[in-house]
Amino acid sequence: MTVFIGLLGCGTVGSGVVELVERRADKIAEITGLRPVISKILVRDIDKPREGLVDSSKLTTNAHDILDDKEIDLVIETIGGIEPAREYILSALRSGKHVVTANKDLIALHGVEILETAERHQVDVLYEAAVGGAIPLIRPLKDSLASSDITDLKGIINGTTNYILSKMTQSSISFETALAEAQRLGYAESDPTSDVEGLDAARKLTILASIAFTSTVQLSDVRVQGIRKITASDVRFADQLGYVIKLLAVGTDREGRLSLEVRPSLVPKTHPLAHVSESYNALYIRGDASGDLMFFGQGAGSLPTASAVVGDVIEALRNLQLGVSGHSQHVYANHKPAVPSRDFLPY
Ligand code: NAP
Ligand code: HSE
Repeated sequence: MTVFIGLLGCGTVGSGVVELVERRADKIAEITGLRPVISKILVRDIDKPREGLVDSSKLTTNAHDILDDKEIDLVIETIGGIEPAREYILSALRSGKHVVTANKDLIALHGVEILETAERHQVDVLYEAAVGGAIPLIRPLKDSLASSDITDLKGIINGTTNYILSKMTQSSISFETALAEAQRLGYAESDPTSDVEGLDAARKLTILASIAFTSTVQLSDVRVQGIRKITASDVRFADQLGYVIKLLAVGTDREGRLSLEVRPSLVPKTHPLAHVSESYNALYIRGDASGDLMFFGQGAGSLPTASAVVGDVIEALRNLQLGVSGHSQHVYANHKPAVPSRDFLPY
């Protein structure tokens, strides 16, 4: 049986999704018993030249062509930002369509509303691609690691800033040149201010901490400092002293009191995080039963992010086939207080 998919947005991530769904359709049909077909694609500018496998006859600039199409059972959102992405996702969920999104801004700010709407309408909303690009983080935290009390999250969860800092360290190129390169490679947000100011990492930490610490964490709980003020001399002096500068995201739960911070940090060259370079991400997780775990992989870019999106599509199709959609949501009733950490010991 075929499941028709509507794709909202076809930029860096969306075009990777088109490629991967096409490439993996047979395998997905074999795994889930359902064949995914992207039947319509929403874009802003229909005349924009598009490379690869994007079939121009599927393009539309009218979201209702997808949201009102009764044949479409699943919507993938890769537009980004808050509106109109929020309105489109809520509308899709209310019409009984499953949703997969890569949108961390939206999940960090409106996750509760979106998850509750999905639950009410017994449909899935999945967002593995919102954090860590290709690295599976959301599902392990929600499922396998739910057997532990998670006490610590720490790592590098923004590819653009890691790329900039790596290039400034390894190649001595300027902040601006490295940022332009990260934009060309499709790592940066459409407004890269959120990357360089640490907001993108803070949104991702909000999402991770909510699940890991089973609390309704708010973005305002996270103390944020970006890398805008890091200069070539800072990078050089750090190097001479045996350190590298990394933008670290750190979250701890100490007996129900959370501490959540994103900030540039000196990491000793001997530490594994010092070797996470370019657009790679890495996250340490400490759980009382699991002990220490480290996740590492490509944190941004077209196909790596598409791999997480398509992984969620497979999960949604599997749930659809088993008739268990709408049971994967996690909204936590309690809000653990966030307190400034007394001592920031990132490693
Ligand atoms: P992008 O390259 O800017 O693509 C955005 C797409 O959405 C474009 O196709 C654009 O249309 C379309 N679009 C934007 N506003 C629209 C509107 N109002 N109506 C209709 N279509 C609209 O962005 P991206 O890098 O793929 O990122 C997409 C999402 O994935 C964001 O939430 C981002 O945070 C997230 N994400 C990105 C990465 C990454 O590495 N890039 C990784 C993880 C998650 P046109 O093509 O016509 O301009
Ligand atoms: N702009 C984001 C980053 C994309 O650089 O990490 C991946 O979420």
